[in-house]
Amino acid sequence: MTERIEQLKKDWDERSERLGATQRAVLFKRFPDWLNKSIHRRHVRFITENIAQGSGQVLDVGCGYGRLSLELAARFPSFTFQGVDLCTEFANEYERSVGRCYNGPIQDFRTDARFDFILIVTTLMYLTEKEHEEVLTRLWSMLASKGRIVCIEPASELFQLWRRLTGRESASPTGGTIHHFLRRQLEDKFSSLAGARVIASQAVNILPFFATTAVHHCVAIEKA
Ligand SMILES: C[S@@+](CC[C@H](N)C(=O)[O-])C[C@H]1O[C@@H](n2cnc3c(N)ncnc32)[C@H](O)[C@@H]1O
Repeated sequence: MTERIEQLKKDWDERSERLGATQRAVLFKRFPDWLNKSIHRRHVRFITENIAQGSGQVLDVGCGYGRLSLELAARFPSFTFQGVDLCTEFANEYERSVGRCYNGPIQDFRTDARFDFILIVTTLMYLTEKEHEEVLTRLWSMLASKGRIVCIEPASELFQLWRRLTGRESASPTGGTIHHFLRRQLEDKFSSLAGARVIASQAVNILPFFATTAVHHCVAIEKA
């Protein structure tokens, strides 16, 4: 593990200890619960609307304690889940409540398994540009034909708003810097993958219709 990833793991281990398996821990620590709940519901809606037909095998990258996998498991009891997370307490919690979890960086995750559906939610934001390319290419090779990836990441619009309101240069939940994306930039991350097609793309705004209040962008990609 590089020094950067070791530090990130330490930060997430501390955060999980402090905040537990809660939406506040994996969404926005300073947001009121009703707002995190509303963001959570919108994530779940986007994911369930864009789930691959017959998705039996799900890979949840940076799964946390299983906020989203748990929702899918409740709706689709026949699915099987594989998580990957750096944080030890979250990986253990995922194993207790959802399914197998690899406790380590996605950069090191290898498997012969094929997945029908891959979730990447607020995890690309911690990877470097070079790692985006390497990791997405590897995940793409693990995705079955007609399989889908749903990726949800922080919006650049949120970062601009944060900077204006706080004067701070980072909106990272754990210190350090993170990536923020315009919707087009997030879509473009997948454009070089063979047979990739964007099938849905949407912003999660705090205030409906006000694009400047976007907190996350969501994209769904299908493999030919
Ligand atoms: C903001 S939380 C989101 C968790 C989950 N996806 C959700 O939306 O509820 C980010 C998660 O990514 C994990 N993480 C960060 N960098 C990672 C990496 N390189 N490999 C695996 N997990 C990572 C953290 O430990 C943390 O649990």
